Amino acid sequence: MYNRHLSCLFIVLLIIFHISQAPTFANKVSFCWKFRVHIINALSHDNDNLIIHCYSLDDDLGEHNLRVGDEFTFKFGRHVILTTRFWCDMKHGSDHSKTIDVFTENIGDKYCCHTNKCFWSIREDGFYFSNNNQSWVKWYDWS
Ligand SMILES: *[C@@H]1O[C@H](CO)[C@@H](O)[C@H](O)[C@H]1NC(C)=O
Repeated sequence: MYNRHLSCLFIVLLIIFHISQAPTFANKVSFCWKFRVHIINALSHDNDNLIIHCYSLDDDLGEHNLRVGDEFTFKFGRHVILTTRFWCDMKHGSDHSKTIDVFTENIGDKYCCHTNKCFWSIREDGFYFSNNNQSWVKWYDWS
């Protein structure tokens, strides 16, 4: 009996230690827990609408039809215990479609913490990421 309690306590301590060591946990309880994601239709032709549909495990943000230059934006607070992830189906024209993660714990921790913002610029040649709406890096192709 005594032994079983002791090993339970040990396991609980181990889990607490593990969680508190993870950088995401420190980030989540400090400044880095509210975010806004911006997704911008930066396709090059005027009639290239972007059809976008974003989800998380808890949310269905609906389908949106963005004209060139328009943006879709949403904000959220990170889940403190569970992981937070948002992904979006994107389509344009008849032969371009892709689903990408627009926010993950990793993206939040590594890139969006400074500004609390994640920007996605959707272009003819792929998906560009920025945390300040100014310096862009291409992360994915359409194919
Ligand atoms: C991002 O930059 C564009 C172009 O400079 C500007 O029109 C837009 O308002 C900016 N969006 C945000 C959220 O800062």
